Amino acid sequence: MSGDAILVTGGAGYIGSHACKVLAQAGYVPVTFDNVSTGWEQAVKFGPFVRGDLLDRAALEGAFAEHRPVAVLHFGALSQVGESVASPGLYWRNNVVGSLNLVEAMTAAGCRNIVFSSTCATYGDQDGVVLTEDSRQMPLNAYAASKRAVEDILRDFENSKGLNAVVFRYFNVAGADPEAEIGEWHQPETHLIPVLIEAATGKRDALTIFGDDYSTPDGTCVRDYVHVMDLVAAHLQGLDWLLQRKGSRVFNLGTGQGFSVKEVISEFEAVTGRPVPFVYGPRRAGDAALLVSDCRRAKEELGWSADRSILKQMIEDAWRWYRTGGYRAE
Ligand code: UFG
Repeated sequence: MSGDAILVTGGAGYIGSHACKVLAQAGYVPVTFDNVSTGWEQAVKFGPFVRGDLLDRAALEGAFAEHRPVAVLHFGALSQVGESVASPGLYWRNNVVGSLNLVEAMTAAGCRNIVFSSTCATYGDQDGVVLTEDSRQMPLNAYAASKRAVEDILRDFENSKGLNAVVFRYFNVAGADPEAEIGEWHQPETHLIPVLIEAATGKRDALTIFGDDYSTPDGTCVRDYVHVMDLVAAHLQGLDWLLQRKGSRVFNLGTGQGFSVKEVISEFEAVTGRPVPFVYGPRRAGDAALLVSDCRRAKEELGWSADRSILKQMIEDAWRWYRTGGYRAE
């Protein structure tokens, strides 16, 4: 209902801040709960800000008591595959224990609706198979394993505490707010499109392509890129689903179309006219060769459409945002 509060964990981050923008446009009050360890206070523009950590149960309880949200959108997590391979404990503690705290605090406060950000990385490497929600989950790294563990927690709380959870398994999120008010800004940057922008603009010497010997058409990894605005639109539909008491459900969010690393580079060069200096490096630990979604369920059951998820559009929007200069540490 218009005016209802929604608790947005990770609301200072890339995807969470875009969700806050569309929630506010839809008449909700997005309450950001974020420790700004990887996010930016400047990205919190659309509703109240609670600076807090998911590992701090009292801070969570305080946020539920003060704002009485009708639902939670749970984006807050560490999300770098490479870092998770090097420091698995960090990922299990922050992502799994933090989510458990959140779920306990919300059910104790009588809030039973959650939309959870999971990942296609929970499927692991399945040799060219287009992934449906029923595909087996075989995480290859601690990041993906931590996300799958939270899916398990949610299922147990559905069974015993009446929790309703919409789980979105994201494919590769890209692009930015077309108005360039907010966007993707990580330090250091690890995701392909912002990294190649840094290479094209001289902020780094070159993009390193992680492996060119995969069993894909050009030897580089293939990913299914989805525009952040389409992704957050799905969250509003997921929220409606929960508020209409339709129960728990898992949805893939992708387009069904894959692009290789080299195809993304070529498209960037075509769109911007700027060459991307690159070198080949070894494979990155934890990477799957190909991750492409079957996204029919979200289309059929939620009425979702990924209209903005065209590679050219995602690159143009990311490029426009990058040229604003992004966020700065305060
Ligand atoms: N890549 C490079 N060089 C780089 C960066 C990326 O070659 O400097 C390649 C990667 O090897 C991969 C592709 O570009 O093949 C995309 O890599 P990203 O790091 O942008 O994203 P991931 O595919 O690692 O995404 C995964 C999951 C997402 C998850 C994300 C979290 O697929 O669901 O990690 O960071 F959200």
